[in-house]
Amino acid sequence: MAIDTDIVRPRPADDLGGRVAAFTNDFLFTGAPHLLHPPNPYRRMLVPDAVAEVDFTRPLSAAEASGHRALVAHRLLGTFYEADTVLLPEQGLGALRGDFDRFYGDGLRRLREASLSDLEHFAFALLDDEVDVTGAWRVEDLAAYFEHAAAEAEAGEAESLTAIAAARRPEVAADTYLVQLALDGLTEASAMSKNLGGAFGPEQSALFKVFIDEFGYGVHDAKHTTIFRKMLHSRGLQTHVHAYWNFYLAGPLATNNYYYFVSRDHANFFRYIGAVTYAERVFAPSFVNMIKTYRGVFGDDVDLHYCEEHAHIDAHHGRITRDEILLALAERHGAGVIPELVRGIAEARLLGDWFERDTAAQIRWSDDLDAYRMDGPPAPAHDARRVRVTAASPFGTRSHDQAVVVTVEDGTAALVTAPTATPAPLARGEAVLVPAGRLYGIRPTGGDCTYTVRAAGSDTTAVTPSAS
Ligand SMILES: [Fe+2]
Ligand SMILES: [Fe+2]
Repeated sequence: MAIDTDIVRPRPADDLGGRVAAFTNDFLFTGAPHLLHPPNPYRRMLVPDAVAEVDFTRPLSAAEASGHRALVAHRLLGTFYEADTVLLPEQGLGALRGDFDRFYGDGLRRLREASLSDLEHFAFALLDDEVDVTGAWRVEDLAAYFEHAAAEAEAGEAESLTAIAAARRPEVAADTYLVQLALDGLTEASAMSKNLGGAFGPEQSALFKVFIDEFGYGVHDAKHTTIFRKMLHSRGLQTHVHAYWNFYLAGPLATNNYYYFVSRDHANFFRYIGAVTYAERVFAPSFVNMIKTYRGVFGDDVDLHYCEEHAHIDAHHGRITRDEILLALAERHGAGVIPELVRGIAEARLLGDWFERDTAAQIRWSDDLDAYRMDGPPAPAHDARRVRVTAASPFGTRSHDQAVVVTVEDGTAALVTAPTATPAPLARGEAVLVPAGRLYGIRPTGGDCTYTVRAAGSDTTAVTPSAS
């Protein structure tokens, strides 16, 4: 009997762009004029015009980790994953009931379901090339590899913290880093919660032990998301999901999404365990370093309870995840699962590096913007894209896969590159170089404004950013 293979044939990935376009053009995702998102977790600017530029038929490469295609893909993925968690506004649903219904409703859900696996492939297939785990691994090899990876992370410098300490405006730089942490901090352990169901023995109970700590043992004031918000509040930052959506960078988005990716599909369970074990282990020393840097910048004017809590509890979580989950699973399930545990460790490390590198690069560029201003009239370019914005235009941020020059042609504008920096004024005729992968937004100041975006050419070599 012939079997109808159409039933099992996956949808072609090449219409992913069409499905994604349908999703991003929903009014929940087309933005509003303000810089920060109001307390409405269902609306987030996905910048449909920028999404439309992306070729979704070619998966990302590692070289594009902080590029525009990565930013677009990870904003979408992050939205998809969070639509599979419960988000309710603190002030009550009230007038947002319609947005709630739409965000979780059948129309967008079907688009998400039809796109998610293809989008994950688009965003994470590169890991197969970047992380190569071959050969026979014993439990002791896994233990040795884990210790080696953790020791290297502990010995290495945190690029973002170094960039904060070296910044001209360290407060702004420190806020930029906090905002990247908010992506996870405001919904902490949501990905972990996806791994708690089922029946997998003592390791399940050990994971649950870690999970209930993340949730403050059921005491809301002790929940890690609550103490994270206290840290934001002490800096005068907004504390709702996701006020700073426009400022999340591709690297931090990818890191956060990775944990959802390996938690959604339990074929990746062993990768998740490798990754979470690595994360719990390196968190404690990294928060010790963060405390040092933030005390140096703010003195006592910042609430670092969140960092102190993690410097303490993640020393325990590091031990529990290594001894009672990672190594215990390896013992119980044997050599067949160890390469996947190793892969998770290696992937978490790689993603962690992207988080750091991308955040540090944004901090350095934003802190040194004047060095990227272009002198003289811009070279004529036939490929310049002209953009007109008004006070009523929705505000969104984006990046580009190559360096571009942004020139104000008419009117005046402000260049937004960091959540708490005063936007940099751009008068008519002024231009600035935006390096590949750097996140920016343009706001008109004083009426309508037209600016052009063109690929950076030979005339931009005169721009020599000062070392920072
Ligand atoms: Fe935590
Ligand atoms: Fe933890």
